[in-house]
Amino acid sequence: MLTFEDISYKGLKSMAELDFALEDTLYLTHGIHPYPAKFPPQIVRWAIKKFTVEGELVLDPMVGSGTTLVECAAEKRKGIGIDIDPLARLVSMVKTTPIENHSLKLLEENINIYLSKLQFSADIDKGIILPNVSNLSLWFLPQVAVQLALLKEVISIFEDERLKNLCMVVLSSLIIAKDSVSNAKDIVQTRPHKCQLSNGH
Ligand SMILES: C[S@@+](CC[C@H](N)C(=O)[O-])C[C@H]1O[C@@H](n2cnc3c(N)ncnc32)[C@H](O)[C@@H]1O
Repeated sequence: MLTFEDISYKGLKSMAELDFALEDTLYLTHGIHPYPAKFPPQIVRWAIKKFTVEGELVLDPMVGSGTTLVECAAEKRKGIGIDIDPLARLVSMVKTTPIENHSLKLLEENINIYLSKLQFSADIDKGIILPNVSNLSLWFLPQVAVQLALLKEVISIFEDERLKNLCMVVLSSLIIAKDSVSNAKDIVQTRPHKCQLSNGH
């Protein structure tokens, strides 16, 4: 049977000492998208190295944003992640799918071209289909909803699924973020609350 010493991080005596506030937890692709109750990757790395060897299989049945899978890739383990939440599955996939530098460069150029065209279009909010989401106007200012819908439309043009998925995750992280573009606050940690807008809404 495992003792606490067997599983404690760096031989720490108590759970209270598990403080990663001063450590970088956003290296590799860990910072791509916020997610509630993420593992500090250092703990996962430690556990993987302690309990498995290179080439072995690690299963995370509630994988969330894929911290375990990123660490498995970094430590040459095979990782399997399961999650009931489609966003978690998408984020995990994007964080562990390699994309060549030249594809990313091309993506950046294309996005800039599309966005500059859209920006100068006088009809920017004409013909944009907003998603059928209940209370959309509660959570997004009208111009923000239009801009997000435009971005989604631009993303849908990409043929490379890897780039499309990456862009969808980036789009999502504009909303699920501490400095979200939505009218919500506390969106990463808790059920979101509507913030007070300066125009009184
Ligand atoms: C705290 S999060 C995991 C975070 C993860 N360790 C990380 O670093 O990102 C817990 C996850 O469990 C998932 N989950 C909860 N119940 C589940 C179930 N019955 N089957 C699969 N996934 C489930 C949730 O969707 C959520 O993504």
